[in-house]
Amino acid sequence: MSEKQFEHIKVEKNKENNYAIISIIRPEKLNALHTITLREIAEALEEMAFNKSVRCVVLRGTKEYTKKPAFSAGADLSIRGHPDIDPKNLMDQSHAMYIRQKYYDIIERFPKPLIAAVDGYALGGGFELVLVCDIVIASKRSTFGFPEIKRGIAPFNGGTQRLIRNLGKIRTKTMIFFGEHYKAEEMYDWGIISFLVDEDKFEDFVHQKASWLGNAPTKSLFVIKKAIDYGSQVPLNLGLQFEYLGYAINSQSKDVIEGVTAFLQKREPKFTGE
Ligand code: COA
Repeated sequence: MSEKQFEHIKVEKNKENNYAIISIIRPEKLNALHTITLREIAEALEEMAFNKSVRCVVLRGTKEYTKKPAFSAGADLSIRGHPDIDPKNLMDQSHAMYIRQKYYDIIERFPKPLIAAVDGYALGGGFELVLVCDIVIASKRSTFGFPEIKRGIAPFNGGTQRLIRNLGKIRTKTMIFFGEHYKAEEMYDWGIISFLVDEDKFEDFVHQKASWLGNAPTKSLFVIKKAIDYGSQVPLNLGLQFEYLGYAINSQSKDVIEGVTAFLQKREPKFTGE
């Protein structure tokens, strides 16, 4: 993996060398997101997309929190604009928003499984990050929400658009109009969280799921992810095309042969991601 030094994130590999962890390291601000933070996450993922030894990525807040546990408390409210952007120029403002959204898009398009490991606050832009991950593991003490309305702003890093696709109109408007915090348990009941775990089991659980995905047939997961993410945006007859094409791509993988052979030989498969 590259030796590139980042300012707002830390990138590590797990010991077994099959998944990577990206930690946001801004504990003094509860991991609030500057444009640099988002750009670095996107850059790290773009590099890992081509790295064969990374077969799953965990996105999380720093374990070494100094104030309160947080995945991310959203956009960094202490930063007022960018020196190059004229706050009165609507075109500049709109384009700056596009650039932030672009980073979320890059994160969402990562071709391998991306786990959001949430322990603590996942608010605003932090919640929007959760919405571009594939699997969400949350500790019971975590809190989710879109507080933007309380600051006179709006969740426009994809928040309105991605939440409605997950939750429907009524729940989306209720969350965004009132800006309240929601407990992880309620989010789990609403289907936003994949796994809800006790704090003391959180780290082991995240490792267990990331290891599983890091040892899984990576190419099968790639075509499954694309079929679900993009097939769901088009009519069924087009969505089914993703399955035909995905089947063809996956049929060339070594892991297909290994999976079926291992079954017939009554042993555990050893997938390589090839
Ligand atoms: N941007 C910048 N700094 C932030 C931040 C953000 N989004 N969220 C928290 N912080 C900073 C606080 O300013 C504080 O810094 P300080 O200790 O130097 O004063 C520190 O993180 C701890 O936050 P604090 O508010 O003292 O903790 P709390 O437990 O009382 O409350 C929150 C936690 C998350 C509920 C509260 O900080 C909050 O509402 N943050 C803003 C969330 C938000 O509106 N996000 C959407 C932005 S569009």
